[in-house]
Amino acid sequence: MPLILNVSVLLFLKQKDLLDDLLQMMLKIKGSGKSGHHLVPKREDYPAFTAYRSSPQSLSVNEIVKFDKVWTNNADGYDPSSGVFTAPLSGLYHFAAVVMSSSVGNMYLRLFHNNDNITSTRTKVKGYMTGTFDVVLTLKKEDKIYIKSGHNSQSIFSDGNNYSTFSGNLIVT
Ligand SMILES: *[C@@H]1O[C@H](CO)[C@@H](O)[C@H](O)[C@H]1NC(C)=O
Ligand SMILES: *[C@@H]1O[C@H](CO)[C@@H](O)[C@H](O)[C@H]1NC(C)=O
Repeated sequence: MPLILNVSVLLFLKQKDLLDDLLQMMLKIKGSGKSGHHLVPKREDYPAFTAYRSSPQSLSVNEIVKFDKVWTNNADGYDPSSGVFTAPLSGLYHFAAVVMSSSVGNMYLRLFHNNDNITSTRTKVKGYMTGTFDVVLTLKKEDKIYIKSGHNSQSIFSDGNNYSTFSGNLIVT
């Protein structure tokens, strides 16, 4: 009896987490079937985002680039107020970013997976150069992806032309 009670309380408290985990389990079972077809989340729940800036950002050392507006943010994985993407589901993801340097030049940015730097981009020539990122990574649920300035303070450029963008999407669970 006490066990059943505890489970009910847990169920009540962790309902959302449990539903997410159940969904993941169902996806795995379906995916391992003979057909080889993967059951994918509904379109509106399929993690995918593109965020952008339409103004410059001054970055101090190791500061996260804040793509503060979104065009697409399925499943709400991307947080425009922090610049951090948090994986709503485990799976294989693709990320890409295009970031424009300011007129001063000298831009050095790194893409992070949780606390690990994965890849960097650098421009040295003065004025409005673009640095790009393009990676496919295996993420666990709640893993974080973001872009940070390196060891120097610097600025990135954008304006109403939306030059600086950051995108990511789930490829398959
Ligand atoms: C990037 O990550 C590698 C491996 O973890 C580490 O050795 C290196 O110091 C990091 N680079 C920077 C600039 O933090
Ligand atoms: C930048 O994005 C905004 C919001 O979607 C859009 O209204 C505007 O036309 C875009 N600017 C350009 C030059 O594409």
